[in-house]
Amino acid sequence: MKLSGSQLREFEEQGLLFLGDCFSPAEVAVLRRAADEVYAQDRPEVWRESSGAPRTAFAAHTYNDAFRRLGAHPRLIEPVMQILGGPVYMHQYKVNAKAAFDGEVWQWHQDYGTWRRDDDMPEPRAMNIAVFVDEVTAANGPLLLIPGSHRQGVQEAGHDLETTSYPLWTLDRATVTRLADEGGLVAPTGPAGSMLMFHGNLVHASPPNISPWARTIVYLSLCHVDNHIRRFKRPEWIAHRDFTPIKPLADDCLIQP
Ligand code: SIN
Ligand code: MN
Repeated sequence: MKLSGSQLREFEEQGLLFLGDCFSPAEVAVLRRAADEVYAQDRPEVWRESSGAPRTAFAAHTYNDAFRRLGAHPRLIEPVMQILGGPVYMHQYKVNAKAAFDGEVWQWHQDYGTWRRDDDMPEPRAMNIAVFVDEVTAANGPLLLIPGSHRQGVQEAGHDLETTSYPLWTLDRATVTRLADEGGLVAPTGPAGSMLMFHGNLVHASPPNISPWARTIVYLSLCHVDNHIRRFKRPEWIAHRDFTPIKPLADDCLIQP
């Protein structure tokens, strides 16, 4: 799949691009089943909320076949190669549950802030591409993003080891207020099968999910192969060390394995 000139300009300007109709109901059903399979597993890659509900299944592409295929899906890999200007490898892979009633907050952060500080990734030539596995609404903990915030580079951040089960370099309130006053806030919502891509420096967060509806989103964090990480401080399944370029599979790989 190729992005048009106007989509590329929108990404450059806003730091994000949302496509509401990327994966079919049959493809979503494959991913839905896969999410339930990985959440049911008791393994170090599957992190839980204090309630025991699943929070994040890291590296699910290494132990689930449907997620392996999604990790090389041409509708995800090709647009990112186009934006990053060459071959990419998988830096991180997350299946985020945001469980009904129990899904907890993700504080304000920039993903590249963490990739630089923890993993020594040289440049922000890396980004997220996400697939909604459930419908995302205003009620079930959508992502909140500050358009244009990627153009202001890496912000000061503090290492938050307490708020949630996942350590994160988070931004202070004054910085978030200034950036949101300038750029506003968007919360992309849409049906299961929607796709959202955003720049590694885009400031974002997500509120708790108090609704009765779960909200799984899968995130591929892809990095240009020349920009691979230099420090191996975090576990391999959080910050991958296999820098092999991803070869996109066939377009029907999810339903015709
Ligand atoms: C993230 O920022 O990496 C995840 C946020 C979310 O899934 O709500
Ligand atoms: Mn993030």
